[in-house]
Amino acid sequence: MKKESPMSAPVKKSAAKNLKKKVNVAVVGATGLVGGAFLKLIERRGFQFDNLYLFASERSKDTKIKFMGETFIVDDVKNFKKHDYDVAFFSAGTQVSLDYAPKFADHGALVVDNSAAFRMREDVPLVVPEINFEDALLHKGIIANPNCSTIQMLLALWPLHKACEIKRVVVTTFQSVSGTGTPAIEELRRQSVEVLEKGIEESYRHNIKKEVYPHQIAFNCLAHIDKFEDDGYTKEEHKMVNETRKIFHEPKFRLSATTVRVPVFRGHSEAVNIEFKQAISPSEAAAILKYAPGVTLIDDVYNNQYPTPLMCEWRDDVFVGRIRADKSVRYGLDIWVVADNILKGAALNGIQIVEKYFGMKVK
Ligand SMILES: NC(=O)c1ccc[n+]([C@@H]2O[C@H](COP(=O)([O-])OP(=O)(O)OC[C@H]3O[C@@H](n4cnc5c(N)ncnc54)[C@H](OP(=O)(O)O)[C@@H]3O)[C@@H](O)[C@H]2O)c1
Repeated sequence: MKKESPMSAPVKKSAAKNLKKKVNVAVVGATGLVGGAFLKLIERRGFQFDNLYLFASERSKDTKIKFMGETFIVDDVKNFKKHDYDVAFFSAGTQVSLDYAPKFADHGALVVDNSAAFRMREDVPLVVPEINFEDALLHKGIIANPNCSTIQMLLALWPLHKACEIKRVVVTTFQSVSGTGTPAIEELRRQSVEVLEKGIEESYRHNIKKEVYPHQIAFNCLAHIDKFEDDGYTKEEHKMVNETRKIFHEPKFRLSATTVRVPVFRGHSEAVNIEFKQAISPSEAAAILKYAPGVTLIDDVYNNQYPTPLMCEWRDDVFVGRIRADKSVRYGLDIWVVADNILKGAALNGIQIVEKYFGMKVK
């Protein structure tokens, strides 16, 4: 069965009326990992802006950030005032988004929010531009960026689902510590140094310092991302299910997720088991993914070629490999999906939404 874009329903607005060559941009969370990636991408993609306003918390007020030959001074978002913002990229956590995103939107900004604050609200589009860009046109001031682990999985699943309908997905993630922000990177670094210096037994005896995760993350794996829910799944696992359903416009899409934090600094990996309604071979799936937007295929196991998080750092695409038939079901495939969680999993997806929305040229 061939599937249409999830927004095959009549589109009420057109992107054409939004055309802009340059925009005034606010970045809220500018001193963070995702905020920093927004700035790097603005430069790298030739994203045209007139004015740039950087915000973070009181802690970073008056921090100077050198960017594209100019010095920008970070302000506390609490000092937010009415301005001529066209776009506000938010990556400062859920509470900041809840408190300030509506204020920026009320002052005319198109808010692209990276937190989980608005993702499941009915009046807020949740958008992956390669899949459901048309949803963005129905925004009421705020567009939500999906969770990093959802975005990369869907970039691989969507072209397969369009070609051959998916019956059910089981995914296990291997998510890097950068998904938890700057403090988690420092925790993995500090614990790794301590374990290497003292040895693992000594580190256990002295109860290695844990500030971000409930257990040591260095040389360990934690099957626990975000809070546990009453049904035994974590919130991150629920996000993967609910966000997929919303983006695909398929409220009953069947998916089960286990999300695992691993001692990798950057880049999330996912083992995805897919059951289809009809036959699809590994070579057919590879041919589809080879031409899928935003996807790069690295699948040459005879030469040890498959995606790794290290090779995906600072790269835009989602990388797919290890495509093989799951012979335990009638029509099944297993695939391996890796991406830079800070880029396509966060900042890049947000920038792409805005570029497409305003019809901006990309370098
Ligand atoms: N990392 C990822 O892979 C990823 C992917 C998708 C979505 N996200 C989401 O993006 C957001 C930021 O993630 P991150 O990885 O960039 O975290 P991060 O590196 O820890 O940075 C957090 C940013 O938020 C700012 N901030 C924190 N509390 C604030 C407050 N009360 N008021 C104003 N600014 C505040 C920080 O400013 P200060 O310098 O002042 O502390 C910093 O700029 C989170 O909502 C996260 O869930 C992250």
